Amino acid sequence: MVEKIKVGLVGIGNCFSGLIQGIEYYRQNPSQQVIGIIHEKLAGYGIHDIEFVVGFDVGENKIGKTINEAIYEYPNMVTWIPKENMPKSNAKVYESPILDGVGLWVENRIKPIKSNKTDEQLAEEIKKQIKESGAEILVSYLPVGSDKVTQFWAQMCLDAGTAFVNCIPSFICSDETWGKKFAEKGIPVIGDDIKGQVGATIVHRTLARLCNDRGTKIEKTYQINVGGNTDFLNMKEQDRLVSKKISKTESVQSQLDERLDDDQIYVGPSDFIPFLGNTKLMFMRIEGRQWANIPYNMEVRLEVDDKANSAGIVIDAIRLAKIALDRGIGGPIYPASAYLMKHPPKQMTDPQAKTACEEFVSGKSN
Ligand SMILES: NC(=O)c1ccc[n+]([C@@H]2O[C@H](COP(=O)([O-])OP(=O)(O)OC[C@H]3O[C@@H](n4cnc5c(N)ncnc54)[C@H](O)[C@@H]3O)[C@@H](O)[C@H]2O)c1
Repeated sequence: MVEKIKVGLVGIGNCFSGLIQGIEYYRQNPSQQVIGIIHEKLAGYGIHDIEFVVGFDVGENKIGKTINEAIYEYPNMVTWIPKENMPKSNAKVYESPILDGVGLWVENRIKPIKSNKTDEQLAEEIKKQIKESGAEILVSYLPVGSDKVTQFWAQMCLDAGTAFVNCIPSFICSDETWGKKFAEKGIPVIGDDIKGQVGATIVHRTLARLCNDRGTKIEKTYQINVGGNTDFLNMKEQDRLVSKKISKTESVQSQLDERLDDDQIYVGPSDFIPFLGNTKLMFMRIEGRQWANIPYNMEVRLEVDDKANSAGIVIDAIRLAKIALDRGIGGPIYPASAYLMKHPPKQMTDPQAKTACEEFVSGKSN
């Protein structure tokens, strides 16, 4: 039996709910275990070798509950496993500082706690809570635009000696200064901004690469995404979107033989349609020229459950962070970040990143 990977969670929203309910789904349906998982085992670690030991949020209805209760609280909307069928857990959700975590549009849904503690007091409490829980990895699923909160949690990881998996587009792993801080302390960091299992980014990147590999010239492209959960509602606030746009656009640009001018590429979350819930729709178009300068274009419509999409990837990110910890490898984990994240410190093509990750797991490279 391998030892459990002890994981702490920051931002107990829909993504974590999908991750935890998904793991429980596989536990209750073992015959399904081969469907929907990239790696059943990674260096011996399976998906049931993960234990969620502590959580942090700002929602007054989530703080104080156990993680397995909090994942069902409003405005979360994942209900793959009925709440009464979810096993009890002792792991508690504690208070995180709010800082820039709660956007204009989602405030009345998140209902942030009115705290009587300073951020410094919370930081001291959090370090103790991490220590007592035994968490060795913290995973962040904060709302887009939470740059200050992400930096707060990156610092908590550095102070507590905990690995960090940053699933959102606030740049830590891909930021030179933060990357160095993790390297100096020998603490692994994987990031930034998680890709989907079959998400908009990977589909767009793959098709753009295909067009270039087949010798055609891409002239313009767009990717529009709409959804109906708090993630999309939050992204209506344009000021919170700066790094999300960079992350998503660069993820596609990095795959092109020739970068497109800024006005020839649009990649972004574009609107909130309430009744879509966790369903995300992506519309993508590529226009280019092929043999004899003849024009062509393609359009793709992708419809996907955004939370299944993200859980199918973070399940590997957690295990890769643990492998780095086991092997004493600190700083940005380049292969895992390139394979699983939209804005890694080093971009690779997806096949290159997959190979690099396999070599990392087999111990052939760092
Ligand atoms: N496929 C995907 O779903 C996908 C892909 C890439 C990135 N992401 C990113 O993952 C993040 C999480 O997505 P989600 O759907 O779970 O969002 P969500 O809105 O459901 O959850 C966010 C959670 O963070 C909490 N929060 C807000 N401020 C906080 C703070 N200061 N400290 C601690 N917690 C705080 C909220 O209360 C909420 O529980 C988003 O940034 C999203 O863009 C998701």
